[in-house]
Amino acid sequence: MSGTVVVVGSYNQDHVWSADDLPEPGATRLGTYASGPGGKGFNQAVASARAGARTSFVTALGEDLAASHAFALAQAEGITLLAQIHPDLPSGAAGIFVDAQGRNVIVVAAGANAALSPDFILGQRERLETAAVVLAQLEVATEAIASALRIANIAGAATILNPAPANAPTTAGLLAQADILTPNETEFAALLERHADLQVDPDRLATMNDAALQDLCRQLVRDGTVVITLGAAGVFVSHPSDNLRGDETSHYRMAGVPARTVDTTGAGDAFSGALAAALAAVPKGRFRDAVAYANRYASRSTERHGAALAMPYAADLAPAR
Ligand code: RIB
Ligand code: NA
Repeated sequence: MSGTVVVVGSYNQDHVWSADDLPEPGATRLGTYASGPGGKGFNQAVASARAGARTSFVTALGEDLAASHAFALAQAEGITLLAQIHPDLPSGAAGIFVDAQGRNVIVVAAGANAALSPDFILGQRERLETAAVVLAQLEVATEAIASALRIANIAGAATILNPAPANAPTTAGLLAQADILTPNETEFAALLERHADLQVDPDRLATMNDAALQDLCRQLVRDGTVVITLGAAGVFVSHPSDNLRGDETSHYRMAGVPARTVDTTGAGDAFSGALAAALAAVPKGRFRDAVAYANRYASRSTERHGAALAMPYAADLAPAR
């Protein structure tokens, strides 16, 4: 039987405005509005569950309508929800603006997410220790993420850190707890600047030569795998030289999968959630197969509006090769 995925992260109520183009500061646009569940943590948990993994989701919520929605949605998705409730704080909320090309800008108000405590994480110790994969992002308190990854690591679970959003704080110690990092271009450039004192233009990463790109990955982390998601340009993978995770080469690219994109919100979440699910299903499999699955899964997620509820089901995709 395949292993479980534990996602540690945020739950947000997303408020989404769509317009032809994104307004400049001071400008107004007419558009349409919709609201739905999101938060990088929940999006990744839904992706993991819909990709077929038994999934638990550790988060923090207020005592409000968004929290009730979270419980109902988790149940409908078959996700075990382990929520620290903060009656004095609102649940997380995000304002999202999407243009006609599916590009977005987002502002997140963390609310209860910022108050997820290491104590609450300790209470989930057994679940973290028995997981095949533990997956976290940076929208909840950093100390909570660090303790979850530490527990998982000691127990031998695979740990994935999706270092998003780009401006969230990180420490070298936190990065070292991750077996696998899954930044997009902007997040990768932000980590390089913060942890390796390197200034790199994120727009240049997709076309940089592979050896140079791997060199940057290795300057960032010594023992970890780095998977850079490059949007429509696909993915770049770099392994440490002594752990290729079943792959034949220590670095490679994978082309993007064409999609009829309407909304890229949550595409990175789709990738990390599906990668976790694929690794949990075949822990000793070729890493490349899991990446290929996540790549196709994320591409598919952009063909629907919204975040968590836009995640594809395993049956919507051809089986992983
Ligand atoms: O990654 C997309 C998510 O970022 C949205 O669902 C929003 O809640 C923000 O957390
Ligand atoms: Na989407």
